[in-house]
Amino acid sequence: MKRLLRDLGQVVTPSGTHAPLRGRDLGAVDVIEDAYVLSDANTIVEVGRMRDLKPVDGDVHEVSCPGMCAIPGLVDCHTHVAFAGDRVEEFSLRAGGASYEELHAAGGGILSTVRATRAAAADGTLDEATARHVLWMQNAGTTTFEGKSGYGLDRETELASLKAVQALGGVPTWLGAHAVPPEFDGDADAYLDFALGDVLPEAAKIAKAADVFVERGAFDAAQARRYLTACSDAGLALRLHGDQFTEQGAIPLAIELGARSVDHLEATGDEGVRALARSEVVGVLLPASALFLGRPMPPARALVDAGAAVALATDFNPGSSFTESLPLVCSLAATQLKLSPAEALSAVTVNAAHVLGCADRVGRLAAGFDSDIVLLDVPDWRYLAYHLAGRLIGQIAGSS
Ligand code: NIG
Ligand code: FE
Repeated sequence: MKRLLRDLGQVVTPSGTHAPLRGRDLGAVDVIEDAYVLSDANTIVEVGRMRDLKPVDGDVHEVSCPGMCAIPGLVDCHTHVAFAGDRVEEFSLRAGGASYEELHAAGGGILSTVRATRAAAADGTLDEATARHVLWMQNAGTTTFEGKSGYGLDRETELASLKAVQALGGVPTWLGAHAVPPEFDGDADAYLDFALGDVLPEAAKIAKAADVFVERGAFDAAQARRYLTACSDAGLALRLHGDQFTEQGAIPLAIELGARSVDHLEATGDEGVRALARSEVVGVLLPASALFLGRPMPPARALVDAGAAVALATDFNPGSSFTESLPLVCSLAATQLKLSPAEALSAVTVNAAHVLGCADRVGRLAAGFDSDIVLLDVPDWRYLAYHLAGRLIGQIAGSS
């Protein structure tokens, strides 16, 4: 069955056909006024101006959308959606002055979500918790998402987390090196022996990528190299959490190993910016996490101007970024990262899709792409970034 979205105020899509977009290309978007989008089954077949619309053959479901703007379905390329419980208690302590790193060192933080997630996997409620989080993301305009494990850190819960993401249509990432679980008593090398020996063989059958948290109190660069090399040998793409609080060599390691992305970058200095700009590795910026923890923002403008490929994501998780909203992330990009609304749009569509390996069919409104379309009930598509935490989403016409 064909579907015609007609009389749209604006149809907006990143320009060009390549991915990822860098430098000036990041901010180049095509805006078509008074436009239509024609889809057949789950694929876009035509985008154009109403005045050029020819009669469509066969059965067509027509929807008139005056006053609406169509943008590509948003792509969240960095989320920790497979978790149970919350961290509202810790949030309240932080609001009173306790630091995120102190809470982590005291066995709270990530490890408190590990306890809740293990319990949920054991009593069969992890799937439903993950589904609730995914529904929140979809209601905010996300049509493609990545979901990491990393709150299990034992075999059963890691695999259950990956399966939950997969069952919900997400792109699963094995974050087997997120923290050292309590039963290993701080021995990161012994934990990696276990994770790579006992979990990786099964995780690699479900996950598309592997991720590691390179930071003081988590994993150092040598441990990350060992973990990522084994994961690459098992066929997984590579991602890193790097430079969140301190520079620990995540960028050089990402480049050396040919990783898809290095994510966070709040602590990245000039040398890191230059190195990333010369590389194929995408810098995934997570301004909601910096905001939520009261940390410095990543050097987004310097990265883009130097020619680095950047994407934006929520980092949705219960501890450091409790938001599922990519529109909010676009507002933060415009107000805190000095990116234009057009640059933010490309960073949450085409470039995020590139990080997930699906930029050939997701992230643009163009013939041949999946018909993942977000309709904004706004007079100008830039309200996506402009209307801070506003109600924007009119309807989401997803293909899957
Ligand atoms: O990306 N930095 C490490 N991991 C997550 C936070 C996880 C948590 O606090 O539960 C992040 O910010
Ligand atoms: Fe993260």
